[in-house]
Amino acid sequence: MTDDTDPATLAARAAAELPAGFVWGAATSAYQIEGALAADGRRPCIWDTFAATPGKTWRGESGDPGCDHYHRHAHDVRLMADIGLAAYRFSVAWPRVQPAGRGPANAAGVAFYDQLVDELLAAGIDPWATLYHWDLPQELQDRGGWSDRDTAHRLADYAVLVADALADRVRHWSTVNEPWCSAFEGHMSGRHAPGAQSAATAVRVAHHLLLGHGLAAVALRSRGAAEVGISLNLIPAEPVDDSPASQDAGRLVDGQQNRLFLDPLLRGRYPDDVVADFARAGAELPIADGDARLIASPIDWVGVNYYAPHLVAAGAATARNQPARGAAPASAPSSPAPASPSPFVPGDAVAQVAASEDVTALGWPVRPGSFAAMLRRLHRDYPGTPLVIHENGAAYHDTVSADGAVDDPDRVRYIARHIDAVRATVREGVDVRGYFVWSLLDNYEWAEGYRMRFGIVHVDHATQRRTLKSSARWYAGLIRAHREAKGAP
Ligand code: FCB
Repeated sequence: MTDDTDPATLAARAAAELPAGFVWGAATSAYQIEGALAADGRRPCIWDTFAATPGKTWRGESGDPGCDHYHRHAHDVRLMADIGLAAYRFSVAWPRVQPAGRGPANAAGVAFYDQLVDELLAAGIDPWATLYHWDLPQELQDRGGWSDRDTAHRLADYAVLVADALADRVRHWSTVNEPWCSAFEGHMSGRHAPGAQSAATAVRVAHHLLLGHGLAAVALRSRGAAEVGISLNLIPAEPVDDSPASQDAGRLVDGQQNRLFLDPLLRGRYPDDVVADFARAGAELPIADGDARLIASPIDWVGVNYYAPHLVAAGAATARNQPARGAAPASAPSSPAPASPSPFVPGDAVAQVAASEDVTALGWPVRPGSFAAMLRRLHRDYPGTPLVIHENGAAYHDTVSADGAVDDPDRVRYIARHIDAVRATVREGVDVRGYFVWSLLDNYEWAEGYRMRFGIVHVDHATQRRTLKSSARWYAGLIRAHREAKGAP
């Protein structure tokens, strides 16, 4: 790492030092951008239901209208080409492609991705598809959702439909995005769909998501997918003091956030201490014969989603000290839920502590050093697994100036410093193959609705007008400089 924080200097250094072939991309997900929730046979997913439940999301906002990407995809691909992206990570909407979660493909839903992929390839942009980014068909939820083992098999069947339609052109496949969020924000804290609050359910769900990953990975490969991986939100747990209790809270959070997923995927078994923490809350991983082998099916890379560390101490979370995944700092307009239960198990074991300085609009601390430390640790503890940064970025309250420009220096600095962390670790020998900024577009930030903007492209949510922010221009400059430095066309 370097103390130098000037974005132009950091861009020049990344362009010079990252290897040729390092992939520059941007990421989105279906529910957050597509809109058109009733078009062409799409049926509701758990986020439609959750958002329609009073008090669950900011002002009751939902994925309608999103960024109306379903109708504006051609324009959005042109924006990607203008920025010079080499790759685009998007997710396929399960409720569009297989609206009831079982049965044959919905041809109209498949046609949308077919066209999107063709447009990307025509623009020289490599498509990276994610199968499941949280939009479980409601009809599967009605049968138990991810707490039911059968849902893992449904994911594998859906994987076959999607691969049969796209694997002739899409080389890179991620099975599941951030199973931790689906399991523990969806079923323990209840901040995300489907909004359950049960340790026993959350833990079952975590296992079934991992099983679904393994089954889907096998299915994808059998239908011609070239590269298969998973996207994990790997979050360092940083105890706020040296007390044994805080240190143990750090162990517990690291266990559930990181090792619960990394160990079965890459070492073939769950960590004992995490299993013991679950048992204290009466929760158990429903492991059947053969599951461990399936979950550890070979993968080509781990997608790393990183935003900020967890700052933790022992004891129950309180409304005052807890920066929820979504909840904004006190200075922001009132938040939908003032206090929400912990996502960690047992629910009274850990307090998440708010950072007081250098935070984003969500209150998430800006710590590129924590990112570098996570990458080094992955290299050390799970050697031999290539890494791709699948998400990294920041929410800030952007303003549009009188001439229509959107200058976002805080986001430029955030992205530049985190790319610099990647550069530094790659130089040390950590195998990071690419970087996808979250996000291409300002979009529907789940429970926070549209007020949290992560895009490098500004979206006027009333008119759907897109404007490149200065972060998009900075990123475009870096991509160009990297190409030139490596003598690529
Ligand atoms: C990640 C999600 C992504 C987005 C970012 C800010 O956890 O994968 O959809 O909401 O956070």
